[in-house]
Amino acid sequence: MQTLSQEAVTYFQEIVGAKNVRQSENDLEHMGKDWSTVPKDLNTAPQPAAILLPGSTDEVSKILSYCNTHNIKVVPSGGRTGLVGGAMAVNGEVVLSLQRMNKIITIDSIGMFAVVEAGVNTQVLQEAAEKRGVMFALDLGSAGSSLIGGNISTNAAGKKFIRNGGMRQQVLGLEVVLANGQVFDLKGSLRKDNTGYALEELFIGSEGTLGVVTKATVKLMTRPEKMTTMCCVTDTFDKVLRTLELCHLKSLKVNTFEFFSRTSYEAVKKLKNLKPLFDGNCYMLIVLEGSQDRIDAMVESMFSDGLASDGLIAQSLDDYLTIWTYRDMIVEAVGAYKCAKRTDVSLPIPAMGEFIGDMMQRFETRPPSIDIIAYGHVGDGNFHIDYISNETSDYKTILAMERTQHELVSEYGGSISAEHGIGLLKKPFLNLTRTEAEIDLMRSIKKLLDPIGILNPGKIFDM
Ligand code: LAC
Ligand code: ZN
Repeated sequence: MQTLSQEAVTYFQEIVGAKNVRQSENDLEHMGKDWSTVPKDLNTAPQPAAILLPGSTDEVSKILSYCNTHNIKVVPSGGRTGLVGGAMAVNGEVVLSLQRMNKIITIDSIGMFAVVEAGVNTQVLQEAAEKRGVMFALDLGSAGSSLIGGNISTNAAGKKFIRNGGMRQQVLGLEVVLANGQVFDLKGSLRKDNTGYALEELFIGSEGTLGVVTKATVKLMTRPEKMTTMCCVTDTFDKVLRTLELCHLKSLKVNTFEFFSRTSYEAVKKLKNLKPLFDGNCYMLIVLEGSQDRIDAMVESMFSDGLASDGLIAQSLDDYLTIWTYRDMIVEAVGAYKCAKRTDVSLPIPAMGEFIGDMMQRFETRPPSIDIIAYGHVGDGNFHIDYISNETSDYKTILAMERTQHELVSEYGGSISAEHGIGLLKKPFLNLTRTEAEIDLMRSIKKLLDPIGILNPGKIFDM
């Protein structure tokens, strides 16, 4: 457990101002964790030594330079909405929060880019772009709380990945501060730049282990034409995949293609006391862009081919909200259980049905107190398979089930994390879908950029 000298605290106070060095119990508890659900008896209680709130890149640089010289471990921190413990400070680290650096510097609707500080809130940027008549395309369930710098560090994905890609696809350039305090200005707004290694790419998805993102230039897009939102239900997962195929064959632009299981639907209905939609095994939430004629033709085929048994096409804001509430509240419904384990695996899309069937068969004899909630971004090959129970003693069994699941993911040629990243909680499984040689190469890059190992130590892999 790292302890912080009074000398270090005094130095930080000089750099960022006394009120921006926080050490109250409340702040340490609140800022030392993310949205991960971990039973308290595991060794993951938040225990940072201090919270630092710099207001400029120069302050970030001075802090890191000092920490590097004095071997003080740092956890870079954004909106802390991650689900794998990437922003947890469990060993007396200093939390370096970017939340005060929240200026939108430029919104340019000629070049179609925005320049923002790392602490800009996702929804605030979405709204600012909207006000200008354009769109910032990343959309996350956590848009109201997540920050752009954190989205970049974790390569966040979200609900429109199928249409617009994830955070990586939105980044044009970055400003990053390395562990030794050196500032790299890679935040160009050029659309095309073919001059050697794309250095900024290294930092996207590196979970704060290679550098601290302080500014970003992100793409803006034109707003889509008319969108139709619908929720339909069917009996088998195979039919879900065939519905996705139908969208492709009808040349529709798929904006969102989400799936949730009957267990997900039931959990949300109970938690929020919602009016029922319709009964079934597999729910599909589909958002399509395209003319009414083409969408009507698609819906007609869907029902005449027997791909859906019931459904609702949103005709009002109320319909739209009902449909999305069933999907968006799953995260909260899972979090309401005493014991919950979230996963976010990636699979080859055509193999998803066979995978889930295979997996459920293996878990048929599980304790009856453990339920499985499957949902996710099926159009991207991304399942969330969450394990829930109200018996904390089930946690061990759930961890064993998680391992079995990831081993199966590996057999199917998938990835143990599609979008949430590795952080602390997925670390034991990384070598199931990345080779030792790949992980060693990651270690070499880490050593090159952060030789002392001060940045987010123990996250993604151990050195
Ligand atoms: C979602 C988060 C859990 O898809 O990734 O709701
Ligand atoms: Zn997701």
